Amino acid sequence: MSGTELITGIGELTTHDESGERRHDAALVIGDGRILWIGAASSAPAADRRTDVDGRAVLPGWVDSHTHLVFGGDRSAEFEARMAGQKYAAGGINTTVAATRAASEEQLVATARGLRHEAETQGTTFLETKTGYGLDVDSEARSARAAARVADVVSYLGAHIVPNGLDRRDYLDLVTGPMLAAVLPYVQFIDAFCEVGAFDVEETREVLLAGRAAGLGLRVHGNQLGFSGGVRLAAELGAHSVDHCNYLEPSDIDALAASATVATLLPACDLSTRQPFAPARQLLDAGVTIALATNCNPGTSYTTSMPFCVATAVLQMGLTVTEAVWAATRGAAASLGRDQGTDAVGSLWVGGLADLQVLNAPSISHLAYRPGVPLTASVWRRGVRVD
Ligand code: NIG
Repeated sequence: MSGTELITGIGELTTHDESGERRHDAALVIGDGRILWIGAASSAPAADRRTDVDGRAVLPGWVDSHTHLVFGGDRSAEFEARMAGQKYAAGGINTTVAATRAASEEQLVATARGLRHEAETQGTTFLETKTGYGLDVDSEARSARAAARVADVVSYLGAHIVPNGLDRRDYLDLVTGPMLAAVLPYVQFIDAFCEVGAFDVEETREVLLAGRAAGLGLRVHGNQLGFSGGVRLAAELGAHSVDHCNYLEPSDIDALAASATVATLLPACDLSTRQPFAPARQLLDAGVTIALATNCNPGTSYTTSMPFCVATAVLQMGLTVTEAVWAATRGAAASLGRDQGTDAVGSLWVGGLADLQVLNAPSISHLAYRPGVPLTASVWRRGVRVD
């Protein structure tokens, strides 16, 4: 719909402006996909349309900065066995690789689109997703193409594991050579799983440097199942993000604090794999920038719900509501290099993209105060109402 729209009657407005304050009795005007005006409801300008949100809270749309939406198959049996005491190990990825290779590109896109839609109806307006369940040149290229049709940002995760039956050295040569060339038109980041059962620090370094030489930003899956060294490597190489961060030594936290690398925390994954939560409070207190994301994937975290992650971060990881909401919007945008400039996401400002959500609640505190309750009232992405 074209023209301008006044959203008024906002009981509490979170913008992440410099004051860090939440405004009350606010209004905003959107048009052409952008925010045109923000201020007190009583001085709002006229607009072509008017939506009164009747005292509800308005905040930026969620930025889900870590998902794996391009996959085939289902791993609910593995999940159930885990809940009965079995440990999570990286090898389960092979199950999804087989199902993903067997799926057509249209099937992969349909699954990923369904999950993206599910996320949008819960307030997510910007989303990263990864390859990593193809793990041969054709399947990774197909996954990257499918991902680019669905997500705002795509990461190449050829270095997820060494697929069954392949020699490590041969596989690394593939990941850093022909596979990288095949996915390059579709991806903005390179990612690698630095963990026992996946890739060690030197292998991860080799993969990341090949990606950097090809012009990609860097992300790392680090310290998810143990003290893998991935966090320190990410900080050393100036990666945009290191994700998971469950097992951290004080020197890891110091390295992150001295770097610009964002620590992306994945509380739904921690619950679903029965890993200790990442030390969110210590990271924040040390001055590390953190992000929250769903890690939606069929193996370790099959949820698209950012509100669930925010509630868990507050109730279980020691964050305040303000900190958790910031991490799930502005912090996540920083982890994707999208927190600055005209197309910045994760905050609301005059001239910025109109990506916002309205809660069925008077305050963002209800996200944790009423856990598990579907509180998303409405969502605008690029100024267009998401149904
Ligand atoms: O982020 N850690 C590596 N990759 C995914 C899980 C992959 C899987 O088990 O399918 C994650 O948790």
